[in-house]
Amino acid sequence: MKRFTVACIGLCIALVGCTQSAEERAVVEETTALKWEGVLPDGMTETQQAQQELMLTAAKALATELMGELSAALAAGDPSAAIGVCQERAPSVAAQVSDTYGLEIGRTSHRLRNPANVAPAWADAYVADLVEVPTYLAGPNGELGALLPIRLKAACQMCHGSADEIDQAIRATLAEDYPDDQAVGFAEGDLRGWLWVEAPSDEVATEM
Ligand code: HEC
Repeated sequence: MKRFTVACIGLCIALVGCTQSAEERAVVEETTALKWEGVLPDGMTETQQAQQELMLTAAKALATELMGELSAALAAGDPSAAIGVCQERAPSVAAQVSDTYGLEIGRTSHRLRNPANVAPAWADAYVADLVEVPTYLAGPNGELGALLPIRLKAACQMCHGSADEIDQAIRATLAEDYPDDQAVGFAEGDLRGWLWVEAPSDEVATEM
């Protein structure tokens, strides 16, 4: 009898334990559902592959346009026009590309020049980890997010390199416009930041 009671208490504890952990599991599942989870390129569904293709096309369009405008301004020997490309053209070209492809796109960094270029929340942990490879995340509503690393090129050093690589006039403009500038001191080949892209769920993405 005593043994039975002990067993019974044991079972009750086990059941209570079980109920609690089921509840806990439900909570965990709920929070997980709201989270963005990493997806490996070879583990993508067809929908995600379509989203990925769209995102890469959009990212290429943005990068090509910005590099083209930047090179033209630099070739014209006009550093203030080049600053304008990064300052005004980058956000407006990003908005244009977002519209064209039906997604959201922007530039971000672990060392920001403009604090407004902060990454979307889903990318935070990956930015903090300084991911060096294209990284994809599935969102809670069928979205796909991407972080695509940007490396510093020699042509970027005149505005993102060490102090002696940045012309006095540019340094003065940067100091005035970006008092919290952290985007200096990069060397060629360094991880400068990422293009982030967020594609909506399949209906929109596959319509393209
Ligand atoms: C003529 C100066 C200039 C050159 C050259 C330049 N940048 Fe920038 N860059 C800026 C300015 C100014 C900003 C801040 C733009 C803003 O206000 O959003 C910026 C912002 C950025 C950002 C957004 C994140 C942040 O820190 O705010 C990235 C990424 C970036 N630059 C990468 C590059 C790369 C890569 C190159 C070379 C291909 C490059 N830049 C060349 C001036 C320059």
